[in-house]
Amino acid sequence: MIDREKMKSNLLMESESKANLFNIRALIICTLIAVIAEILMEVGLFTLDATLTRISTISDFFLFMLPFIVYYLHDKVLKKEKPIIYNKHFKVLVLVCAFTGITIISILLSFHAVLVLIIPVVLGAQYKKSKRMFIIVLIVTVLTVPITIYGSFFFGIPDKNLLKALVEGEEAMSFAKRVELATPIRMVDVLTHYVIPRILEITAIDLIVAGITKRDSQMLDEQVELSSRVQEEMEKRNDMQLHVIEDLASVIETRDLETGKHIIRTKEYVKMLSREMAKYDEYKDVLTDKLIDQIENAAPLHDVGKIAVSDTILLKPGKLTKEEFDLMKVHTTKGGEMIQSIFRNLDDDAFFEVAFDIAKYHHEKWDGSGYPDGLKAEEIPLSARIMALADVFDALTQKRVYKPAIKPEDALNEIKSLAGIQFDPKMTEIFLSLSNELIEYVNNNLE
Ligand SMILES: [Fe+2]
Repeated sequence: MIDREKMKSNLLMESESKANLFNIRALIICTLIAVIAEILMEVGLFTLDATLTRISTISDFFLFMLPFIVYYLHDKVLKKEKPIIYNKHFKVLVLVCAFTGITIISILLSFHAVLVLIIPVVLGAQYKKSKRMFIIVLIVTVLTVPITIYGSFFFGIPDKNLLKALVEGEEAMSFAKRVELATPIRMVDVLTHYVIPRILEITAIDLIVAGITKRDSQMLDEQVELSSRVQEEMEKRNDMQLHVIEDLASVIETRDLETGKHIIRTKEYVKMLSREMAKYDEYKDVLTDKLIDQIENAAPLHDVGKIAVSDTILLKPGKLTKEEFDLMKVHTTKGGEMIQSIFRNLDDDAFFEVAFDIAKYHHEKWDGSGYPDGLKAEEIPLSARIMALADVFDALTQKRVYKPAIKPEDALNEIKSLAGIQFDPKMTEIFLSLSNELIEYVNNNLE
């Protein structure tokens, strides 16, 4: 099943963490700008109110640097398990610090154009790939600043900072104060010069941010769409593969009377053993969930080569002669060839390999006395060693045309005695640790 919501939230987390990183860097740039502005004021290039400028620079220094400090300590120094850069609440800290800092500058210095000047830095840093958006933001900024400042002259309340810049020296402050005192405060002026421009400014910023967020969510939707289509294709291919396996297994069933339930039971033993093995240190890296699935799915095909063995041998009651047994052995190499011709073109090399190994090597023995190639110990592929245990355990515990069934307890004892001879000793130990479950399963599934 495709979990679109989970996929979307992972992608969202990834893009949010990238935005967080960009914003942290943008705030460091803002800090540098504030420090440079402070230095320029100290050396006398700006005629701003010194105390207010210093307060705003110091408070902004801490506010703008706070997200970086938190991120650096948490993720780089302490290296905590869950990086804070992926934490969705961290974004709130970044935004609160950015907007509090910007608000402090604009209130203390009564210079709200700064708000517009800093936003492009933040947005530009986040969207460095979107050149067009960056250029639009810059043009809006360049146009907004003079309109806001000169507009104030036009409406009768000159901008104090501009006055201070225009009128040199000591006179600046008293001139600004005189202009302020001489101007009666009228509600309509407060609205037109302070409230409405700020609302417009904030709306403009909101629109830009909304536009970018929309672009972001569209990109995210496209990504999710693409990923789910890939996933769907993979699922379709897996379905096809499972159909082929089922069809083949049913063909084997019609040829060999005893294999119907044998296929189901051996698949179950393979599943139990491989999942148990995955809990052990020596196998946990090799036996991934994907490989376990592949081994389980390929298990029903272990005797696919029996299609090529004649009925007289396959259905013969009693023991086979040496010649008959040699012909029976061919089902392993035939099985390998069949898997090769059926699955090679399905474009799933990993599954093909597992199915091939199981079909061809499930009769190999640990001491090298098995067939078809007489492979020894770990030369025998892992999946085939798992299959061998499952196959023999089922053969022992079920009745065959040529032999009666033995009790699962006795079958486990026999398997134990063959550890290191026929079976992988470590794997046998793990198989025996499942004794209770195995005995219960056999007793519930007797033919
Ligand atoms: Fe076999």
